[in-house]
Order: sequence, then structure tokens, then C-alpha cells
Amino acid sequence: MIENQELKLIKANILVVDDNPVNLRLLVQILTAKGYKVRPVPNGKLAVSTSQAAPPDLILLDINMPNMDGYEVCQKLKHNPQTADIPVIFISAYNNAIDKVKAFEVGGVDYIPKPFQVEEVLVRVKNHLSIRILQKTLQEKNTNLQQTLEELKTTQEQLIQSEKMAALGQLIAGIAHEINTPLGAIRSSIGNLKDFFQNNLIKLPIFFRNLTPIETENFLKILNFSNQKNQSLSSREVRRLRRNLVAELETRNISDCHSIADVLVDLGLHQKLEQISPFLKSERGLNILEQIYQFYTLRQSATTINIATEKAAKIVFALKTHARYDSGEIQIKSDIINGIETVLTLYQNQLKQGVDVIKNYEQIPEIYCYPDSLNQVWTNLIHNALQAMNYQGQLTIDVTKEKNHLQVKITDTGKGISQEIMPQIFKPFFTTKPAGEGSGLGLDIVNKIINKHQASIDVDSIPGKTTFTVTIPMNLEEEIPNV
Ligand SMILES: Nc1ncnc2c1ncn2[C@@H]1O[C@H](COP(=O)(O)OP(=O)(O)OP(=O)(O)O)[C@@H](O)[C@H]1O
Ligand SMILES: [Mg+2]
Repeated sequence: MIENQELKLIKANILVVDDNPVNLRLLVQILTAKGYKVRPVPNGKLAVSTSQAAPPDLILLDINMPNMDGYEVCQKLKHNPQTADIPVIFISAYNNAIDKVKAFEVGGVDYIPKPFQVEEVLVRVKNHLSIRILQKTLQEKNTNLQQTLEELKTTQEQLIQSEKMAALGQLIAGIAHEINTPLGAIRSSIGNLKDFFQNNLIKLPIFFRNLTPIETENFLKILNFSNQKNQSLSSREVRRLRRNLVAELETRNISDCHSIADVLVDLGLHQKLEQISPFLKSERGLNILEQIYQFYTLRQSATTINIATEKAAKIVFALKTHARYDSGEIQIKSDIINGIETVLTLYQNQLKQGVDVIKNYEQIPEIYCYPDSLNQVWTNLIHNALQAMNYQGQLTIDVTKEKNHLQVKITDTGKGISQEIMPQIFKPFFTTKPAGEGSGLGLDIVNKIINKHQASIDVDSIPGKTTFTVTIPMNLEEEIPNV
């Protein structure tokens, strides 16, 4: 570094300005002898133009010159950004005392009174050149650091972005599965509907035409009974009911009791046997029962399609809410519990693998907040909780209303956070997860969003019980704290 500086010093370029040719020559001689590159200039005007054309590292400037004196030259140089940083050393006249205050005011860094001593000139020149070179080096370093900082910021932004995308990717896999299930149900129900029409359309008019008024009445009554079926039975219960029914049908001398028992259990008519057994014994009873069953299946398919579309719509709604672009500027009045439910809907698939979700929600008012950002908080905390317990355990979400704030607690039964790593977990890029599973930005993002809400976050953890508590101010009025 020192050697480097010496080298730069020797190569330094000095402009000497003096209208007195003897002085000018003398200064050039002294400086050239030391190895500096020297450019002599006889007047102020030339001094300004040469400095602009090729800025020197230092200027030795005589004060007393005709037309443009040294002070004026210095002022001009200092006003031009290109030459403003060049150090100027004034040289006083023989007889006039130098106006030191003015010399410094116009931007000079030093002065040398005449008659000058060679050694003094050289020391002062060397000092100011050294300062100048150091200054330049510092400036360069500063620019480099600034650039590096900018690059780091961009990289961090990109990482945060890719982190969000990675989290989204994981979610999408689960969501695709979630949407596929209702789609499968819809597809098979539509198959049933098609079969019904294919098999029955020709038969139906004849069937209804042939029904007696009493048969029509029975048809509608029994179909109506089956409408009221609402309990879903376990397969074990179904087997027990079927066994009992077969026995009863046998005692009532009804033929084909096994298949009839199946249909009656499906239709939920096992408790109505008393009422419908005369009908079953009638000549066309079984044939009518079969048609009732067909209509029942038709209705069931419609109900399944209804439930499945509602489920898919709910997932799509959650996805849209979650992915909505957060303007970041405007707070919106919104229900925090809705946000948590949205996130839970999206994690449905992962939760099904073995997580009991316990929700303790108090009634809370809507508050002014950044709902999309808060959804990211719930997403990260829930994701961490699920990962900590390896998707097996209990996830408890408590939402309570305190005096001036709302509190959300997310508790998992996972492995916990040790005291050693506790101070680190909110730091960006801190992760204990294998590469590809976590980038360590989740809690950093959470922290930023919490600050944006002037909220706070606390952690309590022992093995088997980790709770993240988020406390958010209850802003009920639009007058909200500035971000
Ligand atoms: N509920 C929790 N139980 C146990 N440890 C946790 C829990 N939440 C966070 N941690 C610890 O804190 C670390 C940092 O969490 P953070 O969410 O910032 O990053 P990550 O989950 O590792 O990665 P990313 O969120 O970027 O996918 C985790 O690696 C984990 O060690
Ligand atoms: Mg995380």
C-alpha cells in the first residue's frame, strides 16, 4: 500500500501557474528534479482551461497575476465539478502579505510565502499530494462499496422473491391435489348422470304411464323418505343393518331379500320397513323400487357435484386471496381469522397427513392492516410449525382480543427450538433445514411484516411445545400509524 502510494506520488502531475518566468522556471526545476511531471502555465486563464482539459493532481498557484489573479482562478476551479477536488497551494507575492483567510475561503488547501525555500515547497507538495491520493483511493473504495451494497440488495430481493416462489411451489403441489379430489368426484357423478339417461330415457315414459295412482303415490312417498336420509354410516354399521334387514325381509316372506336389503340400506329406508313392506310384496313393487333407486342415484350425483364445486371454489378463492398483489401502501379493514382460514385451506392436503388442528377463535372485530402481508405471516408460521412436527401432531391456533390489540398464537407439538439457536431464528438466511427445504428467510419476512404493522412477535419453546405469539394493535379507525 505504502509502495503503491510512493509510485503514485512520483507519477503525480503538477500544474504550476506564475506570470513571472523566473519563478516559473525555478519551480519547474525543483519539482522536475524530484521526478514529478510538471506543466508550467504563465497566466490564470490558461490555468483554468488546461486544468479542465487534463485535470492535474495538484496546482501551485501564484496570487498576483494580471487580468485574472490566483484567488479568481481558484474560485473558478472550485465551481467546476471536474476540477473542484484538485488541491490548490497558493504562492504569495514577494512584498504583499498573503491574505490567508481569503486563500482558504476560495478553496486553497495551503500557501507558501515567497521567497520560498526549496525544502518547504517539496514537503508541502508531497503532503498535499499524499492527502489527495489517499482521498482518491478512499473515493474509489467508497464507490466500490456502494456498488457492492447495491448488488447485495438486489441479490437479497431476488432471494426473497425466489423464496416466495419456492413456498408457492410447495403449496401448489398440495393445492393441485386438493382440486383434483373434487374434480374426480364431479367426473364420476357426471358419469352416473350420463348412465341414467342412457339407460332410462326410453323406459321412463312407459314406466310412469303404467303406474296406477296408488303406485305413483307410493313411488313419490318412498322417494321422499329417501330424501330425508342424512346420516353417513360406517361400513360396519351398514353390514349390521343389512344383516338385520335380510332377516326381517325373510320373516316377511319377501323374495330376493339380499339385493333388496342392499337397496333399502342405501336409500336409508331400513327404519321404514313396516310402512313399505306391503308395497314390496306387491306385484310390481320391486320394479318400482329399482326405479326409485335410479332417481335416488341421480339426486345423489347432483348433490356430490354441488359439494365438490363448492369445495373447489373455496380453494380457488383462498388461492386468489393469498396470491393477490399487496399494494403495500394502503391498509384495509379486514378479518384476521379469515386470513388464517385461507392459509389453512391451502395447507389442507398437508394437514390431512396427520395433523389435528385445534381452533380457539374469539369473536374479533375487523381491523385496519395489510391482509395479504399478514397471510404471509400465517403461512410462514404454520409452515414452520408443520415442518417442526414433521406433519404429525397438533396445531393449535388461538385468536384472542385484548384491550387494545389482537393476539394470534400458533402452537405446535414439534421438536422445539433450543436456547442456543433461539437468538438466531429471525436472522435472514438462518436455517437448520437441509438445503432445498428452507432458505432461512421465512421468519425474516415475518419480522419485516410485523414491524410494518407496529406489531410484535414472541416465541416460547420447549421440546413438544412451541408457541409463536403475534400481537397486533387493534386499529379500528382509518387513522393508522404511518409505515
Ligand atoms: N415452530 C418451530 N419449531 C421449531 N423450530 C422452528 C420453528 N419455527 C422456526 N424454527 C427454526 O427457525 C429457523 C428459521 O426459520 P425460518 O422460517 O426463518 O427459515 P426456514 O424455515 O429454515 O426456511 P424457510 O422459511 O425460508 O423455508 C428454522 O430453520 C428452524 O430451525
Ligand atoms: Mg420457514
